[in-house]
Amino acid sequence: MQDSYGRVIDYLRVSMTDRCNFRCIYCMPEEGAPIAPRDHLLTGEEIVRLVGIAARLGVRKVRLTGGEPLVRPDLTSIVKRIASLDGIGDLSLTTNGYRLAGKAPELAAAGLTRVNVSVDTLREDRFAAIARRGDLASVLAGVAAARNCGLSPVKLNTVLMRGVNDDEVVDFARLTMEDPFDVRFIELMPIAWSTGVDTQADLRALCGAARTRSANVTVFAHQDEASFAETFRLSDGGTGMLDAAAMRRLFVPAAEARERIERALGPLEPAEVLTNGPARSFRLPRATGTVGFISQMTRDFCERCNRLRLTADGFLRPCLMADGEVDMRTPMRTGATDADLAELILLTVRHKPKEHRIADGVMPTERGMSQIGG
Ligand code: GTP
Ligand code: 5AD
Ligand code: SF4
Repeated sequence: MQDSYGRVIDYLRVSMTDRCNFRCIYCMPEEGAPIAPRDHLLTGEEIVRLVGIAARLGVRKVRLTGGEPLVRPDLTSIVKRIASLDGIGDLSLTTNGYRLAGKAPELAAAGLTRVNVSVDTLREDRFAAIARRGDLASVLAGVAAARNCGLSPVKLNTVLMRGVNDDEVVDFARLTMEDPFDVRFIELMPIAWSTGVDTQADLRALCGAARTRSANVTVFAHQDEASFAETFRLSDGGTGMLDAAAMRRLFVPAAEARERIERALGPLEPAEVLTNGPARSFRLPRATGTVGFISQMTRDFCERCNRLRLTADGFLRPCLMADGEVDMRTPMRTGATDADLAELILLTVRHKPKEHRIADGVMPTERGMSQIGG
């Protein structure tokens, strides 16, 4: 499949559920994000049917996301059925890792190729402040279990936040010295900055500031327990979600993290990572793993974007950063044939935007990250 800009679309991200057992502070409020009624969630059969049609149209790579995909009881059976579809060469999972230790063996046996695990901090006390559920030890046990089961490569996703975890970038990078992890630092994105009204000027300022700052980076947040607590105080008037102003204060350009790592550990050489998506990857001298940066705010990867997203409630989205989506659930439940559904997939591909327009103030407003699928 080719979109209107000549990009080959061969990657489908499928959200297994919009539910999550964590409450990451940048993603959802304490009481949880809005969730779809249970009967709106696609069944295993519906998911496998759509992925099968997409595979016949040229999708080769499938990623299962959430919410938190491991909370879905029939996940392993879905993995097994997708893995056996013709054409799917890479079947991966993005998870918060909390239930991964128990599930990794059966997922690997079912045909999962690899996992990306979100780990925003290596410190238990901070973990509690960021994820607000679960515990770091279980997540790290999940990471270890994934490695032991041969799920490879294991990628670790760290969302950068100033004054919260930006002083840990070197610790994260050090993990790649001995172990074959691909650690990726992610710039905080303006998705579901739900509280506090974002003005377009706010967003333009953010992109502008990020671009300027990354060009000439010298300052890093000073870290101690008091400043951490101060930065992290919820500033949203009680809903338990960071507001737009707080998000903007937390934003750290990837280039800043890179510079900090190079200063401490030496030069980062470009590295090839198999199955790489939006990350730009590097290797420290003599390191086993890699360090990557997902810097869609300061340097987007739109020109090589190859993906579509299927939400847990059955909508197909051509872009993470724009609201447009196509309902697949209703046609599927009212007798659409495989050919009809294939037409809808091609229609979505034709409407894939050229690039995100965050700098112009355009961002997703209808769904949060857990409802889109990350
Ligand atoms: P790999 O195939 O292993 O490289 O996966 P990935 O990096 O695409 O997937 P993952 O679920 O680990 O995503 C990590 C982060 O990449 C997400 O949190 C997003 O911040 C970012 N990301 C993923 N897909 C997109 C996309 O389509 N557009 C943008 N702008 N960012 C994306
Ligand atoms: N900005 C950047 N990354 C985010 N994630 C969730 N919300 C955001 C956001 N607003 C990350 C998670 C996970 C991945 C799927 O998306 O931490 O690693
Ligand atoms: Fe955290 Fe992901 Fe759950 Fe959001 S969906 S609360 S980012 S684990």
